[in-house]
Amino acid sequence: MRIKAALAALASLPIIIGICAAVGTGSARAQAPIIIKFSHVVAPGAPKGLAAERFRVLAEQMTRGRVKVEVYPNSQLYKDKEELEALQLGAVQMLAPSLAKFGPLGVKEFEAFDLPYIFPTKAALNAVTEGPIGRSLLRKLESKGLTGLAYWDNGFKVMSANRPLHDPADFRGLRMRIQGSKVLDAQMRALGAVPQVLAFSEAYPALQSGVVDGTENPPSNMLTQRMNEVQKHVTVSNHGYLGYAVIVNKKFWDGLPRDIRSQLEGALREATIYEKAIAQRDNERALETIRKTGKTTVYTLTPEQQAAWRRALLPVQKQVEGRIGTELIESINRTTAQNR
Ligand code: LMR
Repeated sequence: MRIKAALAALASLPIIIGICAAVGTGSARAQAPIIIKFSHVVAPGAPKGLAAERFRVLAEQMTRGRVKVEVYPNSQLYKDKEELEALQLGAVQMLAPSLAKFGPLGVKEFEAFDLPYIFPTKAALNAVTEGPIGRSLLRKLESKGLTGLAYWDNGFKVMSANRPLHDPADFRGLRMRIQGSKVLDAQMRALGAVPQVLAFSEAYPALQSGVVDGTENPPSNMLTQRMNEVQKHVTVSNHGYLGYAVIVNKKFWDGLPRDIRSQLEGALREATIYEKAIAQRDNERALETIRKTGKTTVYTLTPEQQAAWRRALLPVQKQVEGRIGTELIESINRTTAQNR
């Protein structure tokens, strides 16, 4: 009897497995995707905006839909300082703030990237960001509840105002919008200007209304925020650099399944290659577009004028070494000298 019962049980096994499987797949019905809210402050068409979108597509492809990335451009969700607070609270999961914006977080060393003329070339910059200095700076974010994943590029900055800016003396008394970096504050004061920290989203209205007289940014940011429409003069000075750190909420990132984290790292690697490839091109195109509007005079400094700007701005390194760290500045200068 027992054998018969056993055989009957065995015969029904496939049905039981089928039911369990059906119930199983029923209860494990496609799980809701993991949501990554990626907030940023630039236009979708700026290098960082394009790269965020590229990351979104790659991340959803590589995780086969187990992750959904929601990109919120143009300060739509949070503007400058707010976005870092939102990330630490876990209200968003991913940002790519300018390296000039980590001071208020307590990681002042990132302001080394704001030092005038600290990077002679992009190759020298990459040797810093992709080497031990860049990695050690990203590690400093861990204690703030953040994980630094990559550096993204924008470019060297130009200056703009409604008067020609050829010599340092031309800045005297100008109210210049800057990012919230003490190095940029010192930079503008070294030129005799009056620095005014404003969120990126406030830059255009402040220029339009005359709250500030001028600003600095790579051309791609100027154009995509229409700043050129309210600035009669742009000077191609390349006096400083603007780049980004791609960062995530550490608790969120550490809590991801290992395979998903590794797929997202792959998506970010590809998006980073893409971003660095378009940044230079987009800035060159943006400057040309600004020039072609005919509404803004685009002026390139002569070698003598460049030398005068350097004389005015290089002392900033000494002025801020107490804040940034002498060793860090010297280490960056050694690295850039070996990788021009
Ligand atoms: C700025 O505030 O000028 C830039 O940091 C904006 C950006 O993210 O490129």
